[in-house]
Amino acid sequence: MCGIIAYIGDKKASPILVDGLKKLEYRGYDSWGLATVDSGKINFVKSVGRIGQNLEMTNLVGTIGMGHTRWATHGGVTDQNAHPHLDCEGKIAVIHNGIIENFAKLKEQLINEGHKFRSETDTEVLSHLIEKYYEGNLKEAVRRALLCVDGTYGIVVISSKEPDRIVAARHGSPLVVGVGEGENYFASDATALMPYTKKVVFIEENEIVEITKDGFYTITIDDKKVDSKIHEIDWEADLAEKKGFNHFMLKEIFEQPKIMENAFAGRIIPSEGIAHLGGLNLTTEELLKVKRIIFIACGTALHAGLVGKYMIEECASIPCEAECASELRYKRILLDKDTLVFVISQSGETADTIAAMREIQRKGIKVLGISNVVGSTIARETDGGVFVHAGPEIGVASTKAFLAQITVLAILALEFGRVRNLSFMEGKEIASEIKKIPEKIKKILEQNDKIKNLAEKYRDYKNFLYLGRRFNYPLALEGALKMKEISYVHAEGYSAGEMKHGAIAMIDEKFPCVFVAPKDSVYDKTISNMQEIKARSGKIIAVTTEDNYEIEKYVDDVIYIPETLEMLEPLLTVIPIQLLAYHMAEIKGLDVDKPRNLAKSVTVE
Ligand code: G6P
Repeated sequence: MCGIIAYIGDKKASPILVDGLKKLEYRGYDSWGLATVDSGKINFVKSVGRIGQNLEMTNLVGTIGMGHTRWATHGGVTDQNAHPHLDCEGKIAVIHNGIIENFAKLKEQLINEGHKFRSETDTEVLSHLIEKYYEGNLKEAVRRALLCVDGTYGIVVISSKEPDRIVAARHGSPLVVGVGEGENYFASDATALMPYTKKVVFIEENEIVEITKDGFYTITIDDKKVDSKIHEIDWEADLAEKKGFNHFMLKEIFEQPKIMENAFAGRIIPSEGIAHLGGLNLTTEELLKVKRIIFIACGTALHAGLVGKYMIEECASIPCEAECASELRYKRILLDKDTLVFVISQSGETADTIAAMREIQRKGIKVLGISNVVGSTIARETDGGVFVHAGPEIGVASTKAFLAQITVLAILALEFGRVRNLSFMEGKEIASEIKKIPEKIKKILEQNDKIKNLAEKYRDYKNFLYLGRRFNYPLALEGALKMKEISYVHAEGYSAGEMKHGAIAMIDEKFPCVFVAPKDSVYDKTISNMQEIKARSGKIIAVTTEDNYEIEKYVDDVIYIPETLEMLEPLLTVIPIQLLAYHMAEIKGLDVDKPRNLAKSVTVE
């Protein structure tokens, strides 16, 4: 969603701001803007479309400034609605992520007091409110303005009246301070700061931070001083570069063998057949007390939760559910103290997931996190949890983070299983097989050209049905989601057995099916479903286990994957479905890394 970057130092700000905004592009946006302070005035530019489409536009003078990418919520996608938003006199400029819920009332009051508005946005009330409260101290004016506001915000404010400082505040939308030498930064996502500094301060809820060239100063919204801690980020800057791939998504798909190794490193001991996720902070007694597990997430992370459900029910016989956060947060939640709740989120900032997490914590239930971003809201507010170590994921459609999530979930299943019904030999087999998966993923990646040819063959089809059973049912959902997200081709994911109860009505020679059907315990049942499709002239692409050549009798095209344990199949079947969606979008010439209407991290409800 919206992105924020700000700089204060001795260098020209605008190139740094443009570079930072480009690093944040992956979050999804429809317009952008920059503002600097120089010679006692604010210079700004704002525009619909891609950042830096016109380099002249971005060439603002000044060594203090801020930049923003907007993803429209209140007010259409227009130049005028892009940020920054200025006060009446043009001396205060604000950029904002989040939603000001009481903006209509505030706007009416401010208009009655004589303020002149230029946009339809909720954000603009902030610049006028700050103007109203300004009495010579920008930080104090921001603080007083924010006391009037309901909603969520990550804001950055500059003023030509105080050209040696930048003020930022957070409530619900993430912001970090980047700490440099003789220069400092703000950003909504540490990724934007990678080339400049690895030292960051995670701004906490309801904090206001002022940066100058030489330092930072934090207070709470109640005006109490805070001693913020500096953290070192250990992500390598080159993880955020394309490294010769046409798109970040393809690069991230190809990184997956390494990402998987990172996700299980130090967490499994094959010789003893055990696994341990230290961050859970759970003793064996506590693991044994768990009677029910709920995974809460959105989008791809929800599909990971569903894979986790099948894995844990198989290994540990604990009833599990995977629920979408936007539903769970508003229903009557029936929980007891033996229920363990996990929130799964790549970004750790998804608004629905955070709200569901807080709702459950309010009821006194422990919530653990499975997240990728260190310092994210979910990482900080959960009562423990696991990082998936996937590194920065730039492609909006999640790939490597999903693989890392299901790797961690397989480890979790092993950990729970071994204190319950899994034998030593079973544990050993699972742990050893997890270690072998990265090499098997490499073998599937070698078929990239073949999968590209398949995408070419099916490029003109307008609909796809993805089908799978048991462990691969969530993969059918994920395959369809990937296809829709980036290629805008209609696709539905279904349980293969459920297909005959409705979806089959759509099948004809123009409606192909992708079967995720390795040779496992439900393979024969899935073959029956293939025959049902064939009887209706439907075309079939199958993902199945290598050497299973007999499948060629039933299907039009096959992608073979190496054999593995049934519960670990999703770690392999996910690769061809990612590549198929990628090539479909790439062949159509679409913006694979930044699909229309989507955002990497959805920080609004
Ligand atoms: C957005 C993204 C999806 C992602 C979902 C959850 O909708 O477009 O790709 O799966 O958010 O994101 P999270 O960061 O919580 O995993």
